[in-house]
Amino acid sequence: MAKNPLHLIAKQIVANHKGLLAADESEKTATKRLASINMESTPETRRQYRDLFLTAAGIEEGISGVILHHETMEQSASNGTPFVKLLQQKGIIPGIKVDAGTADLPNFPGEKVTEGLDKLAERFKKYYEAGARFSKWRAVITIGEGIPTDFCILANAHALARYAALSQAAGLVPVVEPEVLIDGTHDLARSEEVTTKTLQIVFKQLKAHKVDLKGTILKSSMVISGKECPTQASPEEIGQATIRCFTKAVPKRLAGIVFLSGGQKAVQATENLNAVVKANPGTWPISFSYARALQGPPLQVWQGKPENVPAAQKEFIKRLKANVAANAGKYTPEMEQ
Ligand code: 13P
Repeated sequence: MAKNPLHLIAKQIVANHKGLLAADESEKTATKRLASINMESTPETRRQYRDLFLTAAGIEEGISGVILHHETMEQSASNGTPFVKLLQQKGIIPGIKVDAGTADLPNFPGEKVTEGLDKLAERFKKYYEAGARFSKWRAVITIGEGIPTDFCILANAHALARYAALSQAAGLVPVVEPEVLIDGTHDLARSEEVTTKTLQIVFKQLKAHKVDLKGTILKSSMVISGKECPTQASPEEIGQATIRCFTKAVPKRLAGIVFLSGGQKAVQATENLNAVVKANPGTWPISFSYARALQGPPLQVWQGKPENVPAAQKEFIKRLKANVAANAGKYTPEMEQ
């Protein structure tokens, strides 16, 4: 019997210690990133921003797939090649972010729910025809006084499962992303408690919706101290807590787990990834799906100036190599020289 294409794609995403590039910032977020280098945000400047990364020589050695934004899917690289075709030529799988962002959850102050399920089956059909073979949906869970509520986690998990089932029905591997935010004063133990509960509810919903886990990727946050927590856990503590959490909540047959960087500093995200991989007894393939931790440092080198493109691309490839090494548990600080 022919192999299930969803299983093959999911396997390919996390094969050979490669990872995903999350180049799918919303217009609002891309505008924030470009503002940090005093660049106006227009369809053309956002195209140049995407071009910087997607045309970098050697990207295919560390990147198995790129999560694209709808706008980028319809744009072309500076040499005229459509971005989707460019990726396909490099053997990189094009993916698409399909959620419509978060909105306040009524009656649950401080909590959000992700929108975008309307007409999603039709949109998936178009994205498949355009070449996408995987998709992403991000839910946001906030830790604070009395939150997250079980209801908020359930509302988001239900939407994630509905999305994942629709994605698989259209032939695209779902990258299911319940992000537990790093913002706040919470400690490592609280992060572990919330992330474990969130993932348990998400996998319960995926099961209820009959989502095929062999054709699914989890995009998770790490179990990590809140940004404002006075005591910051070490990479080893983060690695062990994250794997403890996954062991309780993530079924073994899942195709793989990739991490978001979530506002960690670029090198910190690499060190912590390395520590998680070292703590993983080989239960799941683990990799990265970073936006800021891969694109942040090169963006600062670029400054929107054509003459800085080679140096910025060099910085991007350096971060990429460091993270591929971390995916194998072989990252060393010397790689930052
Ligand atoms: P960061 O790595 O910047 O957290 O972004 C990853 C992502 O795709 C969030 O949805």
